[in-house]
Amino acid sequence: MTTHDRGCPFRRRLGVNIDHVATLRQARGGMAPDPVTAAGIAEHNGADGITVHLREDRRHIQDRDLDLLKLTVQTRINLEMAVTEEMVAIALATRPYSATLVPEKRQELTTEGGLDVVRYRDAVASAVTRLKSAGIMVSLFVDSDLAQVSASAECGADAIEIHTGPFCESFRLGRHGRDLVQMATAAESASSSGMKVFAGHGLDVRNIVPVLDLLEVEEFNIGHSIMARAIFIGLGPAVREMADLIHNR
Ligand code: PXP
Repeated sequence: MTTHDRGCPFRRRLGVNIDHVATLRQARGGMAPDPVTAAGIAEHNGADGITVHLREDRRHIQDRDLDLLKLTVQTRINLEMAVTEEMVAIALATRPYSATLVPEKRQELTTEGGLDVVRYRDAVASAVTRLKSAGIMVSLFVDSDLAQVSASAECGADAIEIHTGPFCESFRLGRHGRDLVQMATAAESASSSGMKVFAGHGLDVRNIVPVLDLLEVEEFNIGHSIMARAIFIGLGPAVREMADLIHNR
């Protein structure tokens, strides 16, 4: 029985995050592996979108990557970005299909927590308005916290992306029940406020299974686990495996 049979009203999407391909390239400062090639392979193997995080310090994805992806991606580009004037200007110039606003600290290994929409409400609302007026769908990456969800709706966001990192960590320890309930509550609240619900961070072929039971979740953004699998089984099969899980479960 697929999620569609279980009453899921949409075909769920896989957004493949290709940042780690760029991380490997930057390790030697050369041309390979090219994230633009990775995006094409991902699309040929079932990805419904390509996600990149253009960081302030340009540690992986470069401006050149975003420009080329805009010319070559045939599905959707989702640009993860900090709420800064520089990034808003780049998004307005590039016009990705969607923008996901994320917190960004230079020292972190990866995005460590959700965006604090409650605290930075005015700055977030202003960025949301500017991006939406250019026709860009705006999603806010938030923790499973009802105050953050309602602040996101008040800022006019089209969607929230639930930060699945804490759930993935508790799944690893075999005690994810509470995190799953919190994500379900946040997803229901966002959906009843008229926002779309996405999910991402730390998901892999095992821990995604209970998250697929949350029928409000329309899109999954996944990078690290797919790239880790790709080292052993190849990028195409790694994307295909995750896409089949998301599309058919
Ligand atoms: N969604 C957001 C907002 C992220 O910041 C990241 C990490 O870049 C991801 C999804 C993908 O996380 P992972 O690489 O752990 O799959």
